[in-house]
Parts: sequence; C-alpha cells; structure tokens
Amino acid sequence: MKLAVIEGDGVGREVIPAALQVLDCFDLPIEKIPLELGLGKWEKTGQAITDADLEILKNCDCILFGAVTTPADPNYKSVLLTIRQELDLYANIRPLKPIKGIKGATGNTDFDILVVRENTEGLYSSIEEVGENEAWSKRIITRRASERIAQIACEYAAKRANHLTIVHKSNVIKADSLFLNTCRDVAHTHNVIHDAMLVDAMAYDMVRSPEKYDVVVAPNLYGDILSDLGGALVGSLGLLPSANIGEKQAFFEPVHGSAPDIAGRGVANPIAAILSVAMLLDWLNRPEQARIVREAVEKSVLDGIMTSDLGGKASTLELTDSIVSHIVSTF
Ligand code: IPM
Ligand code: MN
Repeated sequence: MKLAVIEGDGVGREVIPAALQVLDCFDLPIEKIPLELGLGKWEKTGQAITDADLEILKNCDCILFGAVTTPADPNYKSVLLTIRQELDLYANIRPLKPIKGIKGATGNTDFDILVVRENTEGLYSSIEEVGENEAWSKRIITRRASERIAQIACEYAAKRANHLTIVHKSNVIKADSLFLNTCRDVAHTHNVIHDAMLVDAMAYDMVRSPEKYDVVVAPNLYGDILSDLGGALVGSLGLLPSANIGEKQAFFEPVHGSAPDIAGRGVANPIAAILSVAMLLDWLNRPEQARIVREAVEKSVLDGIMTSDLGGKASTLELTDSIVSHIVSTF
C-alpha cells in the first residue's frame, strides 16, 4: 500500500506531521512517499505540481494532504483541483458531525450530516476566460457525473438513515435540472428516501434544523459552500475531515486551508487532519482503528485539551500527544 504524503504550505506543515503521528500508532503495511507540492514549490521552481508529480500520485493507492496556498495569479492552477481532476476523484465526502464537548455556532449538537459533493465538474470545470470587460466560467453538469455521485451518496445513505437530500437551484439555473432529475432517478432505483432543496433554502435550514438531514448530495460549488457552513455548525473548520474518492484511489485532507495567518506558530488544530486519517482507515477497511482514533479525539476534547480555535490553550503538539496517548492506552 503506497501512501503519498503532501504537507503543502502553511499549517499543512504542522497538521500532517500530527496526522502521521496518529497513523504511526498502528502497525500498517504502508509505504509513505513524501511529495513537495504547492506555493512553496512554485516559488522555487515556477511549478506548483509537475507531470512527474502527477505520475507518482497516479501510482499511489492513497494520498494524505495538508493544505496549499493558492495565490491570486491567473497563471496558477489550484493544485487541489489538478489532483482531483487528473485522478478523477469524483466524490468529495465531508462528514458534519459534532464532537462531544464542543458546541458549534448555533449550540445545536444533535445532527449527523454527510455532505457528498460532486468533485469534477460544475463551476469547477476550469473552462473559463477573464477578459477586461467580461469574464465567464462554464458550469458543466453531465448525466454521467451526476449518476455516479448520486450512486455513492445512495450507498452511504443505505448504511445510515436512508435519507438523501438533493441540493440544486434548478428554478433559475437550468443545468441543475439534469443534476436533480438524475439524482432522483438513482435514489428511486436504490430505494432511498429522497427530497430536494434549493441551495439557498438549504443553507438557511441547515443552520436552523440540521437534525433533519442525513446524506446531502450537491454539485461542486454548493457542496463546497455548505461544507464550510457545516464547519460553523460543528464548531470550527479545524474539525472537519474529508475524503476525495475515485474508482481505485482516494485522497484525504482536512477541509481547512493553509491558514497563513497562524502558520508556523504551532497552534493549528490537528483534529481535521487526524480525523482525515480516521477516514483513511475506514477506506482501508479498518473501521475498528478508525473508531479508536475518533474516540481518542473525543477523549482529549473532554479532557479540555483544545487549540485556540476552540477557545483552548493547547498547542498542536500537546493536543496530538494527548490523542496519541489515548490511542496507545487502548492497546
Ligand atoms: C475546499 C477548498 C477548495 C475547493 C479550494 C482551495 C480549491 O475550498 O477543499 O473546500 O474549493 O474545493
Ligand atoms: Mn472549500
């Protein structure tokens, strides 16, 4: 099993070593392949990711990724988008689940949502032009991509509360009707109870009544926005893990970015990266180990060991050490 490890920029360099400390608690047959990508590499070499890097990634089974900084330069294509598209990692899975002991922005801790975000098209088609007086980005919805994202969403729903909410805006954006209708057909075939929500109404309702939702399937940009909203519901973007899943490969990353404002100070919250390792363990068919990691995170939080985004005083290292000690105590 080959695991590419990409720290990237900013706090990626702090949270990925923390995540590896957790992964190393388990004796797994994993060969780690470190890879330098991102803004740091671009500044040194003029390229943030090369064809040779992509070749290496294509030959790995899975990837653990921290974060990269994306400069506002028209010649810079996001490393994340390049990897998601080149490896065809079509499903972005983002669990929004409160951690015991942490209250989010609304105080509601009674919800468990799984955002399943289409990860290859929509407004992220990269087909765009920026002129002096006119700019456009092409928004692509295909039956094939809508079908496969709906299928994986239904598979998750079947293992959970069997309820799928399809997010769209087909009242004004006509392309969304293809997404909506395709998802409806797939849900129907899978016998998954389903409903649909306009994305604006969904944002409102997720804040007011998140407990009403189970699996939420959405086109690319809507899924992006709703998952950040979910970060506020859970308590911090520093708590949200994610998986980008393809046919044979998967890529695990915290939802948060490189956070240049706090980078290098040792205070970044490692929980999102550590819970991304739990998702990696699930993908490797090791649910028991994934559970141990999640419980260790919860125990550390209940011990009051938290980073400053959660109102605590612990450093990245202190929180990681505490999580590791809870894991080791289960052996
Ligand atoms: C995310 C990020 C990325 C996205 C950016 C950095 C390209 O916001 O993973 O949610 O929009 O998908
Ligand atoms: Mn995002």
